[in-house]
Amino acid sequence: MNAEFRAPKGTFDLVPPRGEAMLAVREAMAAPLRSAGYGYIETPSFEETALFARGVGESTDIVTKEMYSFTTRGGDDVTLRPEGTAPVLRAVLENNLHRGALPVKLWYSGSYYRYERPQKGRYRHFSQVGAEILGTEDPASDAELVVLAVDAYRLLGLTGVRVLLNSLGSHESRPAYRAALQDYLRGLDLDEETKRRVELNPLRVLDDKRPEIQKALAEAPLITDFLSPSDRAHHETVRSLLTAAGVAFEDDPRLVRGLDYYTRTLFEFVHDGLGSQSAVGGGGRYDGLSELIGGPALPGVGWALGADRTLLALEAEGLALPGTTGVQVFAVPLGDEAAAWAFGLVTTLRREGVAADVATGGRGLKGAMKAADRSGAKYAVVVGERDLAEGVAQVKDLATGEQQAVSVNELVTHLKRLV
Ligand code: HAM
Repeated sequence: MNAEFRAPKGTFDLVPPRGEAMLAVREAMAAPLRSAGYGYIETPSFEETALFARGVGESTDIVTKEMYSFTTRGGDDVTLRPEGTAPVLRAVLENNLHRGALPVKLWYSGSYYRYERPQKGRYRHFSQVGAEILGTEDPASDAELVVLAVDAYRLLGLTGVRVLLNSLGSHESRPAYRAALQDYLRGLDLDEETKRRVELNPLRVLDDKRPEIQKALAEAPLITDFLSPSDRAHHETVRSLLTAAGVAFEDDPRLVRGLDYYTRTLFEFVHDGLGSQSAVGGGGRYDGLSELIGGPALPGVGWALGADRTLLALEAEGLALPGTTGVQVFAVPLGDEAAAWAFGLVTTLRREGVAADVATGGRGLKGAMKAADRSGAKYAVVVGERDLAEGVAQVKDLATGEQQAVSVNELVTHLKRLV
């Protein structure tokens, strides 16, 4: 350890080239949303604690174990956001976006916080890009979101992402399923806490990751056998739209996710190269969330993609990190006069749209050429006092080693043509 302080447990720094790769991941996730007309929204990174308690669900792991909650000096109970959907819906209602043309389509990108047990792919500070469609029950919106997520992973070159799909049913289907599930769960030998959960929120038990519980759940009733005709029709439309869009998916009738607000469509994107934290993204429909947080009926559907895990997935597939191309031209001045001249050259190049950098600190030729190689540039501009006296600079192709004297007056035009 070189310094007294380290990044807090469960967090990490993104340094180049992973820093650029993270930016590129977020951009790739946003690109399909932009081309589908989604508007960009930002909300604060903390909210009133009650928003998450009510929105995400009192009996979820997120709310009971994982929130960074604190009381401010002024006595307000606030929480660093563990997720983005409840805040976005809060902002939509507060800003009356739901009173304008519907549906409202939004995307966002930011930091989220969960006090989880850290491991590879599971952090206490992580980064998501999310999308939400509010004000429509049209199953085409559910399908659109899945397609846009798959397009984002494709843009990044990932081939190992699988789509898991389920329906949790609406208020029409849920009560009968809940009762059947409770019946089944009451017949199992469970610990006290899980027994309490059976009575309070039996669907949460399905999300219990302990192997012995998963084994005991093997014969549990499946929600898909309890869907009402309209819930079933909704689900079938989503499935057929995905098939028509060429998106492969796997029906997973056991899929439940860690948030209580889901109704009907539920999906998760998983990558098998990541070990136990395999979900690179997920989402679904949440038609009752608005009422839960005190708003009018306002159906919604959305997803969030995990940028950290997506970056790990790129690495697991051995793909070149995106966004790490570096500069195009690197200037190597020899001597003070050349350094001042090169400073002017790179300033002009940058203003002309050519990414450029320059060796600094009066480095000798050898060190400066090493820096040029490391910079990712295709061309180096080597210039010494004698070159300047003759009104030329040496343009060196760093791949072939070929070098050519170019008049300083034509240099910028020449380089712009080359890169
Ligand atoms: P979520 O499944 O909790 O959903 O999170 C979405 C994604 O964020 C996960 O699939 C994962 O890639 C990433 N993620 C979650 N927790 C962590 C963590 N501790 N470390 C690293 N990555 C993590 C939601 O957050 C919902 N708001 C999604 C949604 C939007 N549903 C409807 N609209």
